[in-house]
Amino acid sequence: MPLPREFIDELIDRNDIADVAGSYTQLKRAGRRLAGLCPFHNEKTPSFTVFQDTRSFYCFGCGASGDVISFIMKAENLSYMEAVKYLAQRAGMEMPENTDSRLSNLRTRILAANREAARFFFRSLNSEAGKEARGYLRRRGLKDSTITRFGIGYAPDSWADLRDHLYGLGFKEEEVLAAGLCRKSQKGSVLDFFRDRVMFPVIDLTGNVVAFSGRRLKDNGDPRKYVNTTDTLVFKKSKVLFAMNLAKNSLARSREIILAEGQMDAISMHQAGFDNAVAALGTALTEEHIKIMSNYADSVVIAYDADEAGRKATQRAIGLFRNSPLSIKVLDMTGAKDADEYINKYGPEMFRKLIDGSAASLEYELKRAEAKYDLFTDDGKVRYLREATDIVAKSMSPTERDIYAGRLADKTSASKESIVKQIESAVRRKKRNELADREERLTDVQKRYDVKAANRRQIGGISAEHRLIALVYWNPDKRETVKTKLGGVHFSDGDLEDIFDHMMVTEVTDPTKWLSYLSEDLGQDKTQKLSHIVNEYRGISFVDDDIDYLCDKIKSAANRLNDRDIGNMDPEALKKMIDNKSGGGSNGR
Ligand code: UTP
Ligand code: MN
Repeated sequence: MPLPREFIDELIDRNDIADVAGSYTQLKRAGRRLAGLCPFHNEKTPSFTVFQDTRSFYCFGCGASGDVISFIMKAENLSYMEAVKYLAQRAGMEMPENTDSRLSNLRTRILAANREAARFFFRSLNSEAGKEARGYLRRRGLKDSTITRFGIGYAPDSWADLRDHLYGLGFKEEEVLAAGLCRKSQKGSVLDFFRDRVMFPVIDLTGNVVAFSGRRLKDNGDPRKYVNTTDTLVFKKSKVLFAMNLAKNSLARSREIILAEGQMDAISMHQAGFDNAVAALGTALTEEHIKIMSNYADSVVIAYDADEAGRKATQRAIGLFRNSPLSIKVLDMTGAKDADEYINKYGPEMFRKLIDGSAASLEYELKRAEAKYDLFTDDGKVRYLREATDIVAKSMSPTERDIYAGRLADKTSASKESIVKQIESAVRRKKRNELADREERLTDVQKRYDVKAANRRQIGGISAEHRLIALVYWNPDKRETVKTKLGGVHFSDGDLEDIFDHMMVTEVTDPTKWLSYLSEDLGQDKTQKLSHIVNEYRGISFVDDDIDYLCDKIKSAANRLNDRDIGNMDPEALKKMIDNKSGGGSNGR
């Protein structure tokens, strides 16, 4: 059990930080602060400061900072729980029973809740309530062994069955909300997030259930076919690949991944024996996904849907992969809309043929270009060559470019020499264009974010992420507004994002206690960071416009991180991205 909130409250009330720190160094009052020689480093002039309004300390000399518990951890060289015990003893308090520090961490509690939820869903699938869902899965061709292997379950058509089950196991409201398993209704009651859906657990590489994806069983008015857990402390959907936990075992041998568009496609592939299949989860492919794949594989077969959206996504993925060490092949599926349907219709052997016949990405693009032109006419040949040489120019390898030049020559009976020349000029043009494009596109992004010079000066070189955290700290009632405005964009600093995420899910009424509430989960380094930030920005009053400004700033920084992608995006996608980013961030976290 985590430490009860009331216990922490009493602990920090009865261990005033000025008293506690005051027994290690002599403190003198200077206005609202108390100052003394730092107990953590050698100094002659006092730079150690205690702020009673944030119940924290901050040394301007060595940077040590934190709440009263962190102070004791540092001063007495104790772990978090030891420091709590120390302070409890100091104040003559009893430790609460059953305190196991290992279990008290919110992250650990979320994972435990998720695991219990997965078991609950699985049992519910195999109960009377799960009858319809069982029929659905059977109709879709899933064997029992597959259902068990993936831990597929069913979220009953109820408002609070899972909630009550988890409460019964000792989970707290804060925990089921932080896990994303429940949500708060407008009236303030805690309700189950997933209802009447087939549930697919999302499992990370170490075997933790980090999230769920729920599929609608039947048309019930809910427009969303799939609903996924929103990002939590343990789940960032841009960083997780569905079924990677299973695929990684076979990848040790084959080093080739099949990348599917939907998780049902990945599951079908596994059932058909292709246990190297994975899928991104309700989000476009990201650099982070690619990084994970390149840890386990040398090549990837893109097996996206056979519709226009799938082809667009394939083109985009090819562009992203081009910056990675992975070699890319593309599956050319005809006769079915996606891999799942293909396997059900034609069987695993045919799918194997499809995989084996999948062409290198260049070839895939050339084939698509070829289909557009009539190569029996000179005009068709010229136009085809123009496009084809552009495609071949994308290859980094001169040898590869040479081989394709030969093939294009055969195909069009133009001279290889002239084709090589055309490719070379396309390579040069491509380089020039890339530079110009990037400049232009970036200024376009920047233009939309151009802020008044005065504003910019005010922010100076100070990170917007720091300021936003300070703003939330001093104004916890603004949390929902900030969350909505930010729309789940990633921070450029992972620690800060973690701090921010924790602040979003930790209830607080008295902000002066916040540091101590958070310090258990954040650990010493991040607590120190947070303490720095809140003390740095003390006394600054924020206005609502600051929220917009800071969120935009963070978002545009996140955009800039994606510079590399920009060159690879088709104009349509780019426009969408820019519109999204300036429109208030619908790019879900
Ligand atoms: P598809 O609609 O192609 O899914 O979306 P699918 O795999 O063919 O699904 P079935 O066969 O109808 O069950 C592809 C992926 O996009 C995400 C899901 O991760 C899905 O697997 N998605 C789709 C959502 O997140 N929400 C949606 O409403 C739809
Ligand atoms: Mn499908």
